[in-house]
Amino acid sequence: MILLAIETTCDETGAAILEGPGVPRIRSSVVASQIDLHGRFGGVVPEIAARAHVRQILPVIDEALRRAGVTLDEVEAVAVATRPGLVGALIVGLTAAKTLALALDVPLVAVDHLEGHLYACQLAFPDRKVYPCVGLVVSGGHTSLFECWGPIDTIPLGGTIDDAAGEAFDKVASMLGLGYPGGPGVERAAVGGNRSAYGFPRPFLNDERLDFSFSGVKTAVLYAVKGQDGRGTAPPTSAVVADVAASFQEAVADVLIGKTRQALRKTGLRRLGVGGGVVANGRIRQRLAEMAAAEGVELFLPPTSLCTDNAAMAGVAFEKLAAGQVAELTIDVAAGLVRPGR
Ligand code: KG4
Ligand code: ZN
Repeated sequence: MILLAIETTCDETGAAILEGPGVPRIRSSVVASQIDLHGRFGGVVPEIAARAHVRQILPVIDEALRRAGVTLDEVEAVAVATRPGLVGALIVGLTAAKTLALALDVPLVAVDHLEGHLYACQLAFPDRKVYPCVGLVVSGGHTSLFECWGPIDTIPLGGTIDDAAGEAFDKVASMLGLGYPGGPGVERAAVGGNRSAYGFPRPFLNDERLDFSFSGVKTAVLYAVKGQDGRGTAPPTSAVVADVAASFQEAVADVLIGKTRQALRKTGLRRLGVGGGVVANGRIRQRLAEMAAAEGVELFLPPTSLCTDNAAMAGVAFEKLAAGQVAELTIDVAAGLVRPGR
């Protein structure tokens, strides 16, 4: 079965052609980034994101079809991420998906973006058993832990109570003058920096709850860079930038690793699937691999192209189709995590 998948939850316009059944083969995956549009604002501007999706969605779908060597009349189902994300951005993808499903008279499948981020593990390792697992999604909008009994049977264990880890990377990068998106800039600046130069906070590490908080570490970085009143104007030296970047990255890594280890021990699950843009970070990947090895847990680390937002991960739709979960054309988007418990 040939499926067209669409992704417009935030600032990447994505389309992919996948071929199932079972774990689908990725025939093509096209992502049009909006980094150039949001860069000067230091973060994603929702209205700009939605308008850019409107401009890009049809060319991106056309390009995905072309690269896969597939014509529209060969598409047998259309999948789209309908939550969570920016409402204006989500609506563009859903409207395109509904229109195509109606015009082609094929099923429409609504997928959860975070289940998609975790399904990237299955796409990356099609011959391995990924589920049941603990799922960790670390992106610009989310830092969440899940107990995943299957690709579409995921129970939230905890999440951030304020900023997402990626958002903290972006804000710290902006304070250090490292550009947008911040993650790659902080990672580059951290090379050669001293990871223990600054003792930034590691919230909730000794707390039973499997939640995260990154606003405190962000404020601590502000004080380190601009002084205790946060108003210093002298730009930090390159040595300070490297030390702050390395210490910040290590604080985030400590928290992510600590809470994930706790989730593994609490659930007793022996597999760990991870996803989201922050998992593109080399130091965090290394720390995850070390922790998984020490815990004797099987780790699924997708390549970075499957960690950052893309439409292929909406291939989780094949699981929904197999379970008979086809969406009505009246379905709407949802900004937040909408998840009834089990
Ligand atoms: O998953 P994603 O592409 O989009 C969302 O769903 O949010 O994640 C984007 C986030 C941004 O905050 C970006 O700074 C961060 O992922 N990111 C990184 C790295 N590459 C991207 N964070 C740390 N290190 C990286 N190398
Ligand atoms: Zn994402």
